[in-house]
Order: sequence, then structure tokens, then C-alpha cells
Amino acid sequence: MATLIKNGTIVTSEGEYSADVLMDKEKIVTIGRNLDHLAEEIVDAAGKYLLPGGVDNHTHFGMPFGGTTTKGCDTSHAAVVGGTTTIVDFVPQPKGLGLADAVKLHEEKNFNGQCTPDYAFHSMVMDVNDALYGEILKLPAIGISSIKLFMAYKSSVFYCNDGVVFQAMQKAREAGVTLMVHAESADLTDVLQKQCVAKGQLEPRYHAVSRPPVVEVECVQRVLTLAGVAEAPVFIAHVSAGESVRILRDAAAAGVRAYGETCPQYICLGVDNLSRPNFEGAKYVCSPALRTPDHHEALLEALQRGWLQVFASDHSGLMFKGQKDMGRGDCTKIPNGGPGVQHRVNLLWTYGVAEGKLSRSRLVDVCATAPAKLNGLYPQKGAILVGADADIVVFDPEYKGTFTLAETYEGVDFTPYEGMKQIGRAEKVYVRGRLMAEKGKFVGEKGEGRFVPGKPYAAAYTGF
Ligand code: URP
Ligand code: ZN
Ligand code: ZN
Repeated sequence: MATLIKNGTIVTSEGEYSADVLMDKEKIVTIGRNLDHLAEEIVDAAGKYLLPGGVDNHTHFGMPFGGTTTKGCDTSHAAVVGGTTTIVDFVPQPKGLGLADAVKLHEEKNFNGQCTPDYAFHSMVMDVNDALYGEILKLPAIGISSIKLFMAYKSSVFYCNDGVVFQAMQKAREAGVTLMVHAESADLTDVLQKQCVAKGQLEPRYHAVSRPPVVEVECVQRVLTLAGVAEAPVFIAHVSAGESVRILRDAAAAGVRAYGETCPQYICLGVDNLSRPNFEGAKYVCSPALRTPDHHEALLEALQRGWLQVFASDHSGLMFKGQKDMGRGDCTKIPNGGPGVQHRVNLLWTYGVAEGKLSRSRLVDVCATAPAKLNGLYPQKGAILVGADADIVVFDPEYKGTFTLAETYEGVDFTPYEGMKQIGRAEKVYVRGRLMAEKGKFVGEKGEGRFVPGKPYAAAYTGF
């Protein structure tokens, strides 16, 4: 079915212009002024912005973590309601299974026929052994262009030491795969955490005490040093601290292909939330930990200046009752992470664009275009271009409201953004030309998302 969107302002990662857009057979087929094509549906977008469908670089659907499992893809339509039309999910690696087989398993078990937005995957190391390096070479053939390693979570299945990270960088470089790193010093965190426990400091706020900014900053510096020696591109996941950004910026200026992302929780939510009464602080336990407002400002500035390239949710659908409260009485047992896939784009609009701290073009870049490029999905995803998939958000900048659980489709019993002001809203969301969400309501069919293979060597061709 052909749809013609008229009179809107198209926002790209480089600027804005007024034009009409014709979509047909899942693709954008024409962009131009005063288009007069026959179409089954004509949408008047006067006063609205047309944004490329968001690409969320960091989600965990159906991920076993911290003794429990996050909500699965039956809740992934939440992404679409908020204007995200593609997600890039992390593939858990069961012990004994190779990375490529883990991708196959995750797709068959958790995604195929269940996911609503289109999807790609990041591989993720959870079983460190010598086969790892050979496994990395197999990833491009199955459409995987990135892999995450954890320098955090000592004594867990995730933990990788510097030697493993360095050798993985060398292999990833050879394969054209981008290495993503969860950069927090496992040793430092481990000691600080044990000291808190020994003093009986077990409430949620001590999560942040055992993970101060330096835990991340030291590790970011170390990773970038390793990447410089390996001459490999590296991507730092979920950056939380202002000083980390300055290290990333300086490394990039010195020639390291260093990229990074931050997330809504690190610009909108403060460390004070961890002290909420009645164990509510557990809702805000994530790693890295939440920070003070000076860090929020530094991260926003970094998104605007291009020192950080991506804004992703790090969505983990965890219930407060039955999951977060596993850590009642011992904050080290609170499963890390929280929901955010639905409100990601709108939070950045509200607290970045509407506050005059971020341009609309930078929002489009960090929420859609850059993540599509870095995952080898561009130009099929992440841009309003002729020939691209017809993933378009008609965005109403005038809407004013409040983020609230009642309007959230994430399938959990809280949103960390409860009661916070909302400016602007995805008025219509099209995924491959089909209308899937309207004014905060899901109106499409669930489970129709398709796998989009990522092309290798993506980090080499981003143009950053
Ligand atoms: O707290 C977080 N970030 N949970 C999700 C797992 C991860 O490290 O990305
Ligand atoms: Zn992580
Ligand atoms: Zn994560």
C-alpha cells in the first residue's frame, strides 16, 4: 500500500528541509516538493518533523542476567510506540556454545516471529575460552558486525581480562567486527563492593558507592590504550562519566578509532534516585551507576559535539516485584539494568532538544543514523532516503505530557521516568511502510520484525 506524507520537515543527521515522502512496497520511493502521486493513504504532516525510525543500539530482550531473565520480545512493540523501528539486541552465549550458534539459538528461541521492530544482533562473550578468537571470524558471514566483551562483573561468566580483550580486538579487526566493551574495572569494583558489604552497607545506594566514576574512567583509558596498540576500532557501551568522554575525545583525536554511546538514564536520572525509600532505589540499580548532574551535562555536550556517537537505551525489562527485589537486604544481588526502550527518543527530545542543548539533527544522528552506520545497517536503516526501508516517525513537537507507566508497553511494573515531563511525541510510526503506532498507542501487528544483517567493517566506513 502506498502512503504519501505531505508538508512535513525532514530531519537528517546533517540538516532539515521541507519535502513530501512517498512510501510503497516497504521502501521510500520518492522524496520531493509538491508530490501528487496516487496513494491509498495521504498524511498531512504540516507542523511536524519527519525523523528516520530510531535504531536502538543496545537492548536486552530475553537475557539471563543476575539470576533472572529480562522480558522477551512479546514486549518489543514498546520500542515502536516510542519511534524506534530497529533494535540491536545482545545475544547471550550459553556455556559450551559457539558465538555463531548462540546467535542462531537466540533468534529462533526469542526473536523469529516474536519481535515487532526489525532487528540485528551484537554477539556477546559469556564463555571465555581459546575457541573465542576463531569464533569471531565466523560472525560476518551470519550478519553480525559487532561483539561485546565485559571488563566488569568479576567472577561472573561475563568477565574478560585485558589479555582476552586485546586478543579479541586483534581478531575483530581482522574480521571487520567492531569490539564493544563494558568498561568498568572489575577488580576495583570487587574490592569496593566487598568493603561495603563488610561494613553492612547493603541498601541500593551503596551500588553507586562501590561503582564511582573512576571505576569506569580508569577502564575506558585502559581499553583505549589496548585499542591503540591493536589498531582496532572500539566502541564503549553505556558511558556514564564526563571524564570518560574527554578520554574518548582525546583518543579519537590521536587517531584511535574510538566510539561511544550513552543512554537516557545517564542524562535524565541522578544518583539520588538510589536513596528512594521502601527499596524503590532498586529500580535505579544499573551498571555503570547513575551520576550527578554535572555528568549529565557533560554527556549531553558530548552528544551535541559528536564526542559520543550513539544514544541507546540499554533496555532490560526487569520487574520491581519478583526481580529487582531479589536484592532486598543485599544490593549486590539486585539484577542490574532497567527498562527504557519506549521512551529513549522522546527523553532525548525532551531533555536535549527542547532544552536547547541538542540540535534536532544531532538527535537524528545519535538515535538513528550513527547506530545504523556503526552496525552496518545503513542506508537500509537510519535515514530518510530513496531506496531505504520506509521506517519513518512523524513527530509532533507541540505535544506536552508526562512519562507514566500507564502509557508504557514495556511489560514491567515500573518506569524509571514516572512523572517526568514529556515534550513532543511520535504521532505516527511506520515500519517498512506499515503504520504501527499512533499518538502513543500501538496499532500494528506484533511479531512482524525481520532480521537485518549487519555488514562487516562498518566502523571503518562511518565517516565520523
Ligand atoms: O546495568 C546494566 N547495564 N545491565 C545490562 C547489562 C549490561 O551490562 O549491559
Ligand atoms: Zn554492559
Ligand atoms: Zn546492556
